[in-house]
Amino acid sequence: MRRILVAGNWKLNGSLQSVRQLVADIKAGLGDLKADVAVCPPYVYIPEVAQLLKGSSLGYGAQDVSDQTAGAFTGEVSAPMLNDFGCKYAIVGHSERRSLYGEGDDFTARKFAATRKAGLIPILCVGELLEEREQGITEQVVSRQLDAVIQLEGVAALADAVIAYEPVWAIGTGKTASPQQAQDVHAFIRGKIAALDAAVAEKVQILYGGSVKGSNAAELFAMADIDGGLIGGASLAAEEFLTICRAG
Ligand code: 13P
Repeated sequence: MRRILVAGNWKLNGSLQSVRQLVADIKAGLGDLKADVAVCPPYVYIPEVAQLLKGSSLGYGAQDVSDQTAGAFTGEVSAPMLNDFGCKYAIVGHSERRSLYGEGDDFTARKFAATRKAGLIPILCVGELLEEREQGITEQVVSRQLDAVIQLEGVAALADAVIAYEPVWAIGTGKTASPQQAQDVHAFIRGKIAALDAAVAEKVQILYGGSVKGSNAAELFAMADIDGGLIGGASLAAEEFLTICRAG
């Protein structure tokens, strides 16, 4: 049985004060959840979150990572640096990185590789634009995004990675994919991996992301190939986020 993982992607939100409050409120409400839970704050708050989460079962990670380890790469943060602060995860290839900052499949694959090399778990985001869904090419798009990683790192690398299927039209729009729409793409992803390595396909966690809320999380997480969620807006309110975590 794959475990459920619920990860909060805080994006560019928060202040030192609100981060402290949010972490305290999530910690207080965690109880004995079945799901694994993690938060991904903006880089600068990671040391603070690391302190606040000492000894807690709540994991944390970064929203992005450099494809480079060290050197003249102004503004970048490397995976070994994230490791220094106890990060367990790094999100790579989020659609906002892809569309707003022009990050392509190969670049994302290199970030994936750098993350694994430093001993962190990459959360690899894939997903189609609305026009791509309307053109009926969702599977081709997701396949292309996965292939870049498989070609660079081999399919076995996915065994200790997390994939997040995030249809771009569902992100921050309030328009969630229906459980069946999401399940169909998740099953496609798992099937594609299974064709290369059945054991890896069985093991890899595939999260759904895109307007997940307390009110729709349970029906999404109940689907056979949905192993949790990557949560944006709803991860910024402790009670809502905890409701999602309890659905796992
Ligand atoms: P929302 O949950 O705000 O739609 O964002 C999803 C997301 O992009 C998580 O990475």
